Amino acid sequence: MVDLSTVIAGVPLSNVFFNAAGAWCQREDELQALLDSGAGSLITKSATYEAREGNPTPRYAPLADGVISGGGGSISSIGLANEGYKYYLNYARQFDVTRHGKPLFISLSGLSLADSVKMVTAFAQAELSGCILEINFSCPNVPGKPQLGYDMNAMDTTLATLAPLIEKPFGIKLPPYFDMAHFDQVAAVVNKYDNLAFVTCINSVGNGLAIDLDTERAMIKPKNGFGGLGGRMILNTALANVNAFYRRLAPGKQVIGVGGVVSGKEAFLHILAGASAIQIGTQLMEEGPPVFDRVKRELESIMEKKGYNSVEEFRGKVKTL
Ligand code: FUM
Repeated sequence: MVDLSTVIAGVPLSNVFFNAAGAWCQREDELQALLDSGAGSLITKSATYEAREGNPTPRYAPLADGVISGGGGSISSIGLANEGYKYYLNYARQFDVTRHGKPLFISLSGLSLADSVKMVTAFAQAELSGCILEINFSCPNVPGKPQLGYDMNAMDTTLATLAPLIEKPFGIKLPPYFDMAHFDQVAAVVNKYDNLAFVTCINSVGNGLAIDLDTERAMIKPKNGFGGLGGRMILNTALANVNAFYRRLAPGKQVIGVGGVVSGKEAFLHILAGASAIQIGTQLMEEGPPVFDRVKRELESIMEKKGYNSVEEFRGKVKTL
């Protein structure tokens, strides 16, 4: 038997897989399905201070590649629909890590620094064990709100305020970067904060446009059809971001990989690039929570064939030419 366990921010996970924030995690029934699944952990939908309806529908579309629905990926613009942070705080208060056998990640996406301060303060005061914050700096789908992750100074200022309030180890969700200078700049910011324990790479590739050939219409309604791209089509961008941060982050800081994982094969590549855990978004939307047992089996089988007993043995060991 190979060992798929990992440790994120000092907290053990029985296996490396969990959902990406936004997939299957807005309400308690969905979170329960994740608890009942083979996932090693779970993360809640990015919460804002107040509950939000989000963008008009249709706001998610699978993009087929002719093989399976969603096989090519997805486009979405949900617009941070969520139940408001108090809903997730109450959920976290009742969450029993020991009984569930998995830790809980909470995603927060304040629409202002003041909102973020109020939310992280409430979570810090609740003193929840086995509950880890992932601060979302990268939602591309709220009209009029640019992604903080593309403004390095604003990200630094925000972290200077939030990191001391959070106190415990926490993470941030980053957008994809496409330039070596940006990898350097973001890593320099991340490395300034001791309790910033991990970065999650990548959020969707923002503001793509999918058009239906027959109807000549955009495939989703918000923002004239512009939305975040996910799934198989973003795998290589995700791998590059995981590896770029794996190479640049200070010792002890970790990368969670997300983007393009449809099977054990892509999961193996994410770990080879440097991921310490793996989130699944589009494929979870298309296949539902059984995806976790399947990708675990597939990853185990690849590891067995290659003679690896644990994910540590090949994490970050991608060879270059
Ligand atoms: O549209 C959304 O709610 C997406 C959020 C995100 O990408 O973080």
